[in-house]
Amino acid sequence: MNIRVFDTEDQVARALADRVASALRVRPNFVLGLPTGRTPIATYAELRRLHAEEGLSFARASTFNLDEFVGIEPTHPGSFRYFMERHLFAGIDLKPERIHFLDGMAADLDAECERYERDIAAVGGIDLQLLGIGSNGHIGFNEPAEELMANTHHAALHVGTRRDNAAQFGGDPARVPHEALSMGMGTILKAAALILVATGERKAQCIERTVHGPVTTRLPASFLQMHRAVEVYLDRPAASLLPV
Ligand code: PGA
Repeated sequence: MNIRVFDTEDQVARALADRVASALRVRPNFVLGLPTGRTPIATYAELRRLHAEEGLSFARASTFNLDEFVGIEPTHPGSFRYFMERHLFAGIDLKPERIHFLDGMAADLDAECERYERDIAAVGGIDLQLLGIGSNGHIGFNEPAEELMANTHHAALHVGTRRDNAAQFGGDPARVPHEALSMGMGTILKAAALILVATGERKAQCIERTVHGPVTTRLPASFLQMHRAVEVYLDRPAASLLPV
């Protein structure tokens, strides 16, 4: 893994946005995989700034988001689609037909997961997948478990994960959906390149285990060790348990 440590969270966001911008300038029809969560918010803000002030265009790019809750509409403020509209899509020039999302309201959720896999394959795969990491080591909604699913699937969410997502549901974990659709570990590992981003001391322990621990389904992020093009962008607190 290629690990980059920055002094501040802002520097992480700027470096990551620059990395995405350079890729887009070289290849305008780039296919980008996107995460939600608190971590990428500053990066998305910087991408919006690069679009507004420096003419960075997403007009020919495609995006695939990692996951979505089951049972809520895309217009629900707790949905990941809503999050993406607010933090990124509304401020850039992506074409709506090139924004790909799992539909948590689909009548047949298994068919919806298969459709997503087909849509990713149809564009030739994801060029660069950005990833956050849960403090329990989850990636997308691939939660620590005895077994992990390779393909896009229907997942049950852990209590802690629902608690972490409560803010968008009026602060009440009981209102956070119990289930989600998520790319599987195999879907993620098929991307040509991956960038894991983590900030804050809360992530230090799972970052240390992700980078140096054994590969285990109990820490889904540890599977990234088996990919040959992984970059890890960290601020100092998130990197604090890594050997210097
Ligand atoms: P966070 O979430 O960025 O809000 O910490 C990351 C994740 O759960 O994947």
